[in-house]
Amino acid sequence: MRRPLIAGNWKMHLTIPAARALAAAVGKAAAGVTDRDVLIAPPFTALAAVREAAGSGVLLAGQNVCWEEQGAFTGEIAPTMLKELGCAMAIVGHSERRQLFGETNGLINQRVAGALKFGLIPILCIGETLREREAGTTFTVLEAQLKEGLAGVTLASADQLVVAYEPVWAIGTGKTATAAQAQEVHAFVRQTLGSLFEKNIAGQMRILYGGSVNPANVDELMRQADVDGALVGGAALKAESFERIIHFQ
Ligand code: 13P
Repeated sequence: MRRPLIAGNWKMHLTIPAARALAAAVGKAAAGVTDRDVLIAPPFTALAAVREAAGSGVLLAGQNVCWEEQGAFTGEIAPTMLKELGCAMAIVGHSERRQLFGETNGLINQRVAGALKFGLIPILCIGETLREREAGTTFTVLEAQLKEGLAGVTLASADQLVVAYEPVWAIGTGKTATAAQAQEVHAFVRQTLGSLFEKNIAGQMRILYGGSVNPANVDELMRQADVDGALVGGAALKAESFERIIHFQ
């Protein structure tokens, strides 16, 4: 019912030649795949090359997006600029943006609204830190990230928004949430989305898991009822491992 989405977040990696080579390999790996979506989010500088090298079977996303179409916003990128380069989506509220660049739920809410206004699908990232998990506040934190990040947002259909659960303690650490931990949170996220949007929209919305997803753990994660895809960092930078993740069983 929910079409799986396998997304590679390249973060601040790869120059244009390397990006082009990896994108071509991903395009090849995604060729003939009809029952799931494959997406890459390269650095802005590589978007044009990746669009060309990956081919039409691969979706593209920006790693961030501003809420305005143009103006005095040094260092930001407009939704229309991303669309011009062939992006269908934009990652918003990644934990690295929150932790290293001070982005708040309020600012992230502006980004979500801006993306939607210009027809770009936001991939809203949420996740608790290790300290928050150990303090037993995981659900409180996630609920606030969802409610504040999505304040004022109305949706006509479930495919206008993607949510990614990325526990901060699992990002780049090699320490994945267990499949049971992921499922527990994803079910909570879907329930919270159900309080914000119509039930059938929440039921159809894709919720991705991210945090040390790799070829060895993807199958079990994807078997969980509410895990609809993966947002992959490190393992998306190597053609063989990302190919295996695309072809999860
Ligand atoms: P890793 O897969 O490297 O843990 O990164 C996850 C992530 O942050 C994807 O957005």
